[in-house]
Amino acid sequence: MEKMTDKTILEERQGEATLLANSSESERKIYIESYGCQMNFSDSEIVASILDKSGFGTTRNHEEADVILLNTCSIREKAEQTVRNRLNAFRKQKSNNSNVVVGILGCMAERMKHTLLEEEKLVDLVVGPDAYRDLPSLIEEVDSGQKAVNVLLSRDETYADINPIRLGSNGVSAFISIMRGCDNMCSFCVVPFTRGRERSRNPMSIVAEAKELFENGYREVTLLGQNVDSYKWNINRKGEVENENEPTVNFAQLMEMVAQVSPELRIRFSTSHPKDMTDEVLHTMARHDNICKYIHLPVQSGNSEILKKMNRGYTREWYLDRIKAIKTILPECAISTDIICGFCSENEDQHADTLSLMKEVNYDFAYHFFYSERPKTLAERKYEDDVPEEVKKRRLKEVTELQRACSLEHHKKYIGTIQSILIEGPSRKSVEQQCGRNTQNAMVVFDKTDYPAGQYIDVLIEDCTAATLFGKVVSK
Ligand code: 5AD
Ligand code: SF4
Repeated sequence: MEKMTDKTILEERQGEATLLANSSESERKIYIESYGCQMNFSDSEIVASILDKSGFGTTRNHEEADVILLNTCSIREKAEQTVRNRLNAFRKQKSNNSNVVVGILGCMAERMKHTLLEEEKLVDLVVGPDAYRDLPSLIEEVDSGQKAVNVLLSRDETYADINPIRLGSNGVSAFISIMRGCDNMCSFCVVPFTRGRERSRNPMSIVAEAKELFENGYREVTLLGQNVDSYKWNINRKGEVENENEPTVNFAQLMEMVAQVSPELRIRFSTSHPKDMTDEVLHTMARHDNICKYIHLPVQSGNSEILKKMNRGYTREWYLDRIKAIKTILPECAISTDIICGFCSENEDQHADTLSLMKEVNYDFAYHFFYSERPKTLAERKYEDDVPEEVKKRRLKEVTELQRACSLEHHKKYIGTIQSILIEGPSRKSVEQQCGRNTQNAMVVFDKTDYPAGQYIDVLIEDCTAATLFGKVVSK
């Protein structure tokens, strides 16, 4: 799931306007902003596809939109506040033109349901993550003067048959959603309440989507799920085969099927869960050069007692054993993590355990947050949010500083090496430069070449910061 950086997780990132080119002048237009995790960005592409079939075009300018949709995140209080602040920007537009439909999609819609309509008067439409097929008729309901809500969660919706419209795409990298929901019930996490039960998508539809993307010039796909390691097809919750005449598919096998689409197609995935990540997954990664050597393995805390309270299903030792397996089977693999600072009752020694684990693992990158209590979660019901805010912030600062130093050291090791980069496009800072990533997901910036986005090139790394590598192209 899910943050402010250019790395895999995009939580609390500014909403992104997305557009579909060639919308005709006469059709009604939607404007979508996405917040939160990659799954939400991927869902917005499903929403655009569903509405496209009902004759809606898209626009990047909310002022010319007939329907404004915010695809929201509830993971931390701040993420919800960002959306509420953003709603203010649409208030004037709505008062000038009451026909404009304003809708809230995603996790906030699911969590707050009808309350959102009461609290935010300009909102007409509240639609949860499993109800997007209903959007065209819900918009019709709003057109007829009513408010419309559908927050039903499903046990089997995967949108497998929907061909997403790639919004704001660089034409090189795309998300493929392979499963939805989460059955883990980590005590701090609102996701099981907002995204419902875990379910996996038909593997053939996943491979077909990857093939189509490749044929359309894409060179990198990220397989998305809240817990990709528990992907399973034709296997029920008890681990039994459902249909004896059909093959079963687990995550390692799925990854292999996608990797076989083409050696020129890079595969990434997010997010892994330490309790479920098998050696089979690691061996599959080792067998295929095009499966990127990068694993995001959220630890959350380095202290076993806190991990137990978090209901993570593993101890510090178990986690370190998984790290050892990665380092043995995939010595070149980059590892990143998520860390929560100041979870209920966390003391200084327990925080020190997180710092010592970070040093031991030596992460390439980490996303860190201070604990934000979420309504209805086990932690909210059972534990007191008793670490003072200034302590949470100080611990977060210590984690951030340690990680910055580790990231810089990792990057320095690349200096003098040649890295194979998939060009993503112009760099953010200058059109005179291009950028792309190596297999370990490190961002590399180099002077502009004649090679287009989607081309693999070799780059000699000459310099770095904690966030970026800089180099010069040495060959195609
Ligand atoms: N407070 C702070 N961080 C949280 N995360 C999930 N729930 C919370 C919360 N209540 C973080 C976890 C997770 C990431 C996506 O967001 O680190 O891995
Ligand atoms: Fe939340 Fe835990 Fe599920 Fe991740 S695995 S979505 S942190 S409940």
